[in-house]
Amino acid sequence: MESGVLPRHIGIIMDGNGRWAKKRLLPRTAGHVQGAKAFRKCLRHCIDLGIECVTFYAFSTENWKRPKDEVDAIMKLFSDYLDEGLDMYEKDVVMRFIGDRTPLSESLKQRMEKLERETAGNSGTTCCLAVNYGGRDDILHAVKTLSERGEDISALTEDSISSALYTAGLPDVDLLIRPSGEQRISNFLIWQAAYAEYVFMDVLWPDFTEKDLDTAIEIFEGRNRRFGGL
Ligand code: IPE
Ligand code: IPE
Ligand code: MG
Repeated sequence: MESGVLPRHIGIIMDGNGRWAKKRLLPRTAGHVQGAKAFRKCLRHCIDLGIECVTFYAFSTENWKRPKDEVDAIMKLFSDYLDEGLDMYEKDVVMRFIGDRTPLSESLKQRMEKLERETAGNSGTTCCLAVNYGGRDDILHAVKTLSERGEDISALTEDSISSALYTAGLPDVDLLIRPSGEQRISNFLIWQAAYAEYVFMDVLWPDFTEKDLDTAIEIFEGRNRRFGGL
Protein backbone atom coordinates (compact mmCIF):
# COMPACT_ATOMS: atom_id res chain seq x y z
CA MET A 1 0.00 0.00 0.00
CA GLU A 2 1.33 3.40 -1.03
CA SER A 3 -1.42 5.17 0.88
CA GLY A 4 -0.08 7.80 3.26
CA VAL A 5 3.44 7.50 1.84
CA LEU A 6 4.85 10.87 0.84
CA PRO A 7 6.48 11.18 -2.56
CA ARG A 8 10.27 11.18 -2.16
CA HIS A 9 10.78 13.32 -5.24
CA ILE A 10 8.25 15.86 -6.56
CA GLY A 11 8.71 17.51 -9.96
CA ILE A 12 6.88 20.75 -10.67
CA ILE A 13 6.44 22.43 -14.07
CA MET A 14 6.02 26.07 -13.08
CA ASP A 15 3.70 26.99 -15.95
CA GLY A 16 1.09 29.69 -16.49
CA ASN A 17 3.00 32.86 -15.58
CA GLY A 18 2.23 34.56 -18.90
CA ARG A 19 -1.49 33.81 -18.73
CA TRP A 20 -1.62 35.00 -15.12
CA ALA A 21 -0.20 38.36 -16.23
CA LYS A 22 -2.39 38.59 -19.33
CA LYS A 23 -5.53 38.12 -17.25
CA ARG A 24 -4.47 41.19 -15.26
CA LEU A 25 -3.43 43.20 -18.34
CA LEU A 26 0.15 43.14 -17.06
CA PRO A 27 3.34 42.40 -19.04
CA ARG A 28 4.34 38.71 -19.09
CA THR A 29 7.38 39.54 -16.99
CA ALA A 30 5.07 40.50 -14.09
CA GLY A 31 3.83 36.92 -14.21
CA HIS A 32 7.38 35.63 -13.89
CA VAL A 33 7.99 37.88 -10.87
CA GLN A 34 4.88 36.47 -9.21
CA GLY A 35 5.90 32.96 -10.27
CA ALA A 36 9.22 33.36 -8.48
CA LYS A 37 7.31 34.20 -5.29
CA ALA A 38 5.15 31.10 -5.71
CA PHE A 39 8.34 29.06 -6.08
CA ARG A 40 9.71 30.22 -2.72
CA LYS A 41 6.37 29.61 -1.02
CA CYS A 42 6.13 26.12 -2.47
CA LEU A 43 9.70 25.27 -1.49
CA ARG A 44 8.94 26.32 2.09
CA HIS A 45 5.95 24.05 2.16
CA CYS A 46 8.04 21.13 0.89
CA ILE A 47 10.48 21.84 3.72
CA ASP A 48 7.62 21.84 6.25
CA LEU A 49 6.34 18.54 4.89
CA GLY A 50 9.80 16.99 5.00
CA ILE A 51 9.90 16.25 1.28
CA GLU A 52 13.26 14.71 0.37
CA CYS A 53 13.61 16.31 -3.04
CA VAL A 54 11.69 18.76 -5.21
CA THR A 55 12.63 19.80 -8.73
CA PHE A 56 11.24 23.02 -10.22
CA TYR A 57 11.22 23.54 -13.98
CA ALA A 58 12.26 27.17 -14.39
CA PHE A 59 13.54 27.42 -17.98
CA SER A 60 13.56 24.82 -20.72
CA THR A 61 15.98 24.28 -23.59
CA GLU A 62 13.10 25.41 -25.83
CA ASN A 63 12.36 28.64 -23.93
CA TRP A 64 15.17 30.46 -25.82
CA LYS A 65 12.61 30.76 -28.64
CA ARG A 66 10.86 33.50 -26.67
CA PRO A 67 11.46 37.23 -27.25
CA LYS A 68 14.83 38.35 -25.94
CA ASP A 69 13.35 40.77 -23.40
CA GLU A 70 11.35 37.95 -21.80
CA VAL A 71 14.37 35.63 -21.69
CA ASP A 72 16.45 38.45 -20.20
CA ALA A 73 13.80 39.12 -17.56
CA ILE A 74 13.72 35.44 -16.53
CA MET A 75 17.53 35.31 -16.34
CA LYS A 76 17.51 38.50 -14.24
CA LEU A 77 15.05 36.90 -11.80
CA PHE A 78 17.30 33.85 -11.62
CA SER A 79 20.31 36.09 -11.01
CA ASP A 80 18.45 37.95 -8.23
CA TYR A 81 17.55 34.63 -6.65
CA LEU A 82 21.21 33.56 -6.64
CA ASP A 83 22.15 36.87 -5.01
CA GLU A 84 19.51 36.50 -2.31
CA GLY A 85 20.67 32.99 -1.49
CA LEU A 86 18.89 30.91 1.11
CA ASP A 87 16.99 32.56 3.93
CA MET A 88 16.73 31.33 7.52
CA TYR A 89 13.79 29.13 6.66
CA GLU A 90 15.75 27.41 3.91
CA LYS A 91 19.04 27.11 5.77
CA ASP A 92 19.13 23.29 5.66
CA VAL A 93 18.26 23.04 1.95
CA VAL A 94 20.65 21.36 -0.48
CA MET A 95 20.62 23.38 -3.74
CA ARG A 96 21.19 21.71 -7.08
CA PHE A 97 20.94 23.12 -10.59
CA ILE A 98 20.18 20.84 -13.49
CA GLY A 99 20.44 21.61 -17.17
CA ASP A 100 23.06 22.74 -19.66
CA ARG A 101 24.97 25.68 -18.17
CA THR A 102 27.09 26.31 -21.27
CA PRO A 103 25.11 29.30 -22.62
CA LEU A 104 24.68 30.92 -19.19
CA SER A 105 26.87 33.87 -18.21
CA GLU A 106 30.11 33.27 -16.28
CA SER A 107 28.70 35.22 -13.37
CA LEU A 108 25.61 33.01 -13.17
CA LYS A 109 27.68 29.84 -13.46
CA GLN A 110 30.01 30.93 -10.66
CA ARG A 111 27.16 31.80 -8.32
CA MET A 112 25.36 28.52 -9.10
CA GLU A 113 28.48 26.53 -8.27
CA LYS A 114 29.02 28.55 -5.09
CA LEU A 115 25.50 27.91 -3.82
CA GLU A 116 25.78 24.21 -4.63
CA ARG A 117 29.13 24.00 -2.86
CA GLU A 118 27.92 25.86 0.22
CA THR A 119 24.80 23.72 0.63
CA ALA A 120 26.14 20.32 -0.42
CA GLY A 121 26.67 19.23 3.19
CA ASN A 122 23.17 20.23 4.36
CA SER A 123 20.70 17.61 5.50
CA GLY A 124 17.33 19.11 4.55
CA THR A 125 15.16 19.03 1.44
CA THR A 126 17.04 19.00 -1.86
CA CYS A 127 15.81 21.84 -4.06
CA CYS A 128 16.66 21.24 -7.66
CA LEU A 129 16.19 24.10 -10.10
CA ALA A 130 16.00 23.16 -13.77
CA VAL A 131 17.53 25.97 -15.84
CA ASN A 132 18.11 25.48 -19.55
CA TYR A 133 16.94 21.96 -18.91
CA GLY A 134 15.58 19.52 -21.46
CA GLY A 135 14.94 15.83 -20.86
CA ARG A 136 16.34 14.86 -24.24
CA ASP A 137 19.40 17.03 -23.71
CA ASP A 138 19.84 15.39 -20.29
CA ILE A 139 19.96 11.91 -21.83
CA LEU A 140 22.20 12.99 -24.71
CA HIS A 141 24.57 14.73 -22.29
CA ALA A 142 24.63 11.61 -20.07
CA VAL A 143 25.58 9.34 -22.98
CA LYS A 144 28.33 11.73 -24.06
CA THR A 145 29.62 11.90 -20.46
CA LEU A 146 29.75 8.11 -20.24
CA SER A 147 31.56 7.93 -23.55
CA GLU A 148 34.09 10.55 -22.43
CA ARG A 149 34.67 8.53 -19.24
CA GLY A 150 35.69 5.66 -21.49
CA GLU A 151 32.69 3.51 -20.58
CA ASP A 152 31.91 0.63 -22.91
CA ILE A 153 28.72 1.87 -24.59
CA SER A 154 27.65 -1.65 -25.49
CA ALA A 155 27.70 -2.56 -21.77
CA LEU A 156 25.61 0.42 -20.58
CA THR A 157 22.87 -0.24 -18.04
CA GLU A 158 19.90 1.86 -16.99
CA ASP A 159 21.71 2.54 -13.71
CA SER A 160 24.81 3.81 -15.51
CA ILE A 161 22.69 6.23 -17.54
CA SER A 162 20.86 7.38 -14.38
CA SER A 163 24.22 8.00 -12.73
CA ALA A 164 25.31 10.31 -15.55
CA LEU A 165 22.13 12.38 -15.72
CA TYR A 166 22.05 15.88 -14.22
CA THR A 167 19.95 14.36 -11.40
CA ALA A 168 22.60 11.76 -10.48
CA GLY A 169 22.09 10.52 -6.93
CA LEU A 170 18.50 11.77 -6.65
CA PRO A 171 15.58 9.35 -6.46
CA ASP A 172 13.30 8.97 -9.50
CA VAL A 173 10.34 11.35 -9.65
CA ASP A 174 7.30 9.99 -7.81
CA LEU A 175 4.88 12.85 -8.34
CA LEU A 176 4.91 15.23 -11.28
CA ILE A 177 2.68 18.30 -10.97
CA ARG A 178 1.76 20.55 -13.88
CA PRO A 179 -0.40 23.53 -13.11
CA SER A 180 -1.82 25.88 -15.81
CA GLY A 181 -4.23 23.38 -17.38
CA GLU A 182 -1.78 22.04 -19.97
CA GLN A 183 -1.49 18.27 -20.04
CA ARG A 184 1.97 17.62 -21.38
CA ILE A 185 5.48 17.07 -20.03
CA SER A 186 7.26 19.65 -22.26
CA ASN A 187 10.61 17.85 -22.18
CA PHE A 188 10.86 17.83 -18.36
CA LEU A 189 12.43 14.85 -16.53
CA ILE A 190 11.47 12.30 -19.20
CA TRP A 191 13.82 9.56 -18.00
CA GLN A 192 13.38 10.20 -14.27
CA ALA A 193 9.58 10.44 -14.43
CA ALA A 194 9.08 7.18 -16.34
CA TYR A 195 6.90 5.86 -13.50
CA ALA A 196 5.84 9.11 -11.88
CA GLU A 197 2.23 9.83 -11.07
CA TYR A 198 1.06 12.86 -13.06
CA VAL A 199 -1.22 15.45 -11.54
CA PHE A 200 -2.47 18.18 -13.87
CA MET A 201 -4.07 21.17 -12.18
CA ASP A 202 -6.07 24.09 -13.53
CA VAL A 203 -4.46 26.74 -11.32
CA LEU A 204 -1.90 29.10 -12.92
CA TRP A 205 1.53 28.82 -11.31
CA PRO A 206 1.61 32.31 -9.67
CA ASP A 207 -1.67 31.40 -7.91
CA PHE A 208 -0.36 28.00 -6.73
CA THR A 209 -0.68 27.73 -2.95
CA GLU A 210 0.35 25.35 -0.18
CA LYS A 211 -3.17 23.94 -0.38
CA ASP A 212 -2.67 23.04 -4.06
CA LEU A 213 0.48 21.13 -3.16
CA ASP A 214 -1.41 19.31 -0.41
CA THR A 215 -4.15 18.43 -2.91
CA ALA A 216 -1.63 17.04 -5.40
CA ILE A 217 -0.01 14.94 -2.66
CA GLU A 218 -3.43 13.63 -1.57
CA ILE A 219 -4.20 12.63 -5.16
CA PHE A 220 -0.80 10.91 -5.32
CA GLU A 221 -1.49 9.04 -2.09
CA GLY A 222 -4.77 7.79 -3.49
CA ARG A 223 -3.16 6.32 -6.59
CA ASN A 224 -2.27 2.67 -6.93
CA ARG A 225 1.28 2.43 -8.26
CA ARG A 226 1.94 -0.91 -9.89
CA PHE A 227 5.22 -0.35 -11.74
CA GLY A 228 4.13 -2.93 -14.27
CA GLY A 229 3.38 -5.57 -11.64
CA LEU A 230 0.05 -6.58 -10.19
C1 IPE B 1 6.18 29.37 -17.26
O1 IPE B 1 5.15 30.25 -17.58
C2 IPE B 1 7.52 30.04 -17.17
C3 IPE B 1 8.46 29.65 -18.20
C4 IPE B 1 8.24 28.82 -19.18
C5 IPE B 1 9.78 30.25 -18.14
P1 IPE B 1 4.86 30.66 -19.08
O2 IPE B 1 5.67 31.86 -19.40
O3 IPE B 1 5.04 29.52 -20.00
O4 IPE B 1 3.34 31.04 -18.98
P2 IPE B 1 2.21 30.77 -20.06
O5 IPE B 1 2.24 29.31 -20.35
O6 IPE B 1 2.56 31.59 -21.26
O7 IPE B 1 0.96 31.21 -19.40
C1 IPE C 1 7.46 24.37 -19.72
O1 IPE C 1 6.53 25.38 -19.98
C2 IPE C 1 8.76 24.96 -19.26
C3 IPE C 1 8.74 25.61 -17.97
C4 IPE C 1 7.71 25.75 -17.18
C5 IPE C 1 9.99 26.12 -17.53
P1 IPE C 1 6.31 25.96 -21.45
O2 IPE C 1 5.28 27.00 -21.33
O3 IPE C 1 7.60 26.34 -22.05
O4 IPE C 1 5.77 24.67 -22.22
P2 IPE C 1 4.87 24.56 -23.51
O5 IPE C 1 5.48 25.44 -24.56
O6 IPE C 1 3.51 25.04 -23.13
O7 IPE C 1 4.87 23.12 -23.86
MG1 MG D 1 3.79 28.06 -20.63
